[in-house]
Amino acid sequence: MDNRPIGMFDSGVGGLTVYKEIKKAFPNEKIIYLGDTKRFPYGSKTKDSIIDISKQCIDFLISKNVKLIIIACGTATSQALDTLKSIYDIPIIGIINPTVAYVKDKKYTNIGIIATRGTINSKSWDKKIKESINNINIYNKACPLLAPLAEEGWNDNKIAKLIIKEYLKDFNNIEALVLGCTHYPLFEKIIKKELPNTNIINTGKIMTNYLKSTLFDRNTKTIKTDIFYLTDNEENFIELSYKILNKKIKVKLIEI
Ligand code: DGL
Repeated sequence: MDNRPIGMFDSGVGGLTVYKEIKKAFPNEKIIYLGDTKRFPYGSKTKDSIIDISKQCIDFLISKNVKLIIIACGTATSQALDTLKSIYDIPIIGIINPTVAYVKDKKYTNIGIIATRGTINSKSWDKKIKESINNINIYNKACPLLAPLAEEGWNDNKIAKLIIKEYLKDFNNIEALVLGCTHYPLFEKIIKKELPNTNIINTGKIMTNYLKSTLFDRNTKTIKTDIFYLTDNEENFIELSYKILNKKIKVKLIEI
């Protein structure tokens, strides 16, 4: 049994969609969440910057004695995970590999991926999917406006509907759509309406199922509450986290 906390990070509130799933499945685990709001958005930054930023987030989480790092961010997973794994000894998990295993299992032949520009340009999803699945068509679309809309709390209004309609207009013949950015599950309701016959894949859910079947000791017991650290912009985060988690959380501001 390992009672040390789990560390997670994202550029903002998006990672809370992953946090929510992990907490539901592992209520006894203590989680340390880092929302790197000072550097938001990650999606428009270069690979070198993302590696650098991710290292700072991981170093901070390691200083809190975590046993595992969850990269609750599609952009950091796609641009930095392989490099980070070669630097650190601590287990680090991102959202891509568990999702690729799920897509393989489902035997999809036509899938769509929506994500930040950085993620789509990195071609990481294409690469990882094609390494393990033959005969699959992948349709990518960068949706750079969605993460800022989510951070603004505009995840269910007419502007969001209009933008999503435009982004998804060519996705008519896909069986599944991967939400390759962890902010996007906040738009799931609208996306489902737009693509009613498509399986919408929430990568946080898939990652949680993967953790259930692999790494985790289900007997972990801790009574301590989770801690949420932010690098900036406390007010917005508190309001949005209430919308996502349905509970009030306290945050601590830190400098990294
Ligand atoms: N939640 C993020 C992702 O999964 C980052 C969005 C952003 O900061 O641009 O890609």
